Amino acid sequence: MARRTSNREREFALARVIAIVNDKGGVGKTSIAANLGGQFAGAGYRCLLVDLNRQANLADDLGYRGSEIDDEGAGLLGSIIARTPLRPVPDIRPQLDVVCGGARLEDLTPVMVSRLQNHGRDAFRVLGDVLAPVARDYEVVFVDCPPESTILTDLALASARWVLMPTKSDLGGLLGMTLVAERFTLAREINARLGLLGVVLFATGSRARAVQGEALAAIDEAFGGSSPRFETSIRHAERTAQDARRLGKLAHELEVEAAAQPAWWEELRSGTRTKRISATAASVAGDYRALGVEVLSALQAAEEAERPRTRRKARA
Ligand SMILES: Nc1ncnc2c1ncn2[C@@H]1O[C@H](COP(=O)(O)OP(=O)(O)OP(=O)(O)O)[C@@H](O)[C@H]1O
Ligand SMILES: [Mg+2]
Repeated sequence: MARRTSNREREFALARVIAIVNDKGGVGKTSIAANLGGQFAGAGYRCLLVDLNRQANLADDLGYRGSEIDDEGAGLLGSIIARTPLRPVPDIRPQLDVVCGGARLEDLTPVMVSRLQNHGRDAFRVLGDVLAPVARDYEVVFVDCPPESTILTDLALASARWVLMPTKSDLGGLLGMTLVAERFTLAREINARLGLLGVVLFATGSRARAVQGEALAAIDEAFGGSSPRFETSIRHAERTAQDARRLGKLAHELEVEAAAQPAWWEELRSGTRTKRISATAASVAGDYRALGVEVLSALQAAEEAERPRTRRKARA
């Protein structure tokens, strides 16, 4: 009886955990985690980002690499080894907390290999076990998954309620998605509630419509039917991406700074050259806002669809 209750509590706590997954590198997983997290937090939602990457690009996007809060994944590793609740770093931005990734996650592989030998695939549930006690404090949790790292991604898929999958429209991104579809099916054996929240096209030029069509058909095939897609895509904007990582600022933060820069002619008049922030930041920030709205409404629609079933269960 007690075990069933705690399972239900775990399920409830993890109901808004969204793993951002694609086996292919460089398709926007980290950029989307950082920017959606930052914008949700800016809009007043309590939000947590969990970084499962050894290279920890989230630290660059949010500007905390090498700072005193950057434990390079030691806290996450320690929690998983000791099976103790995660301890997020608070207020990386107002309302936005983070569990750092980094090089220390290297040591997770041998730990998990040995647990898998002893407990089988159920061992992957450990991330959910250490995340659930803190996840209930947040309205949305994003887990930024690494490329080509099966154990770390499997940990995320065994714990999350949802998968959000960014892809580029090239062959590599599509192959990465097919690999996710396989791991997704396996993960559902131990995490039956795992669902695909949606697929989002990342850094895809507006002229690539035909390619996008092919990409979307391949997504359907990979997930065995019709799969949800977000209408919003994140536009290709290299300078904004460079500004973001160079300055440790999110697109909507760059948008504010770009608007506050002196006019270009003032620079010419004063004879000083400064590195300017690309005005495209505003458009990119707008893409993330539109995606955020879609993500929220997809979550709300799914929760609404489940509500009567939950009530019926509660009455039984
Ligand atoms: N809108 C954009 N247009 C073009 N490039 C972008 C854009 N946003 C981010 N980038 C750049 O694209 C690259 C890949 O982005 P990102 O790191 O988010 O992908 P990822 O899927 O997390 O990669 P990895 O699998 O290596 O962790 C980065 O160099 C990033 O700076
Ligand atoms: Mg990344």
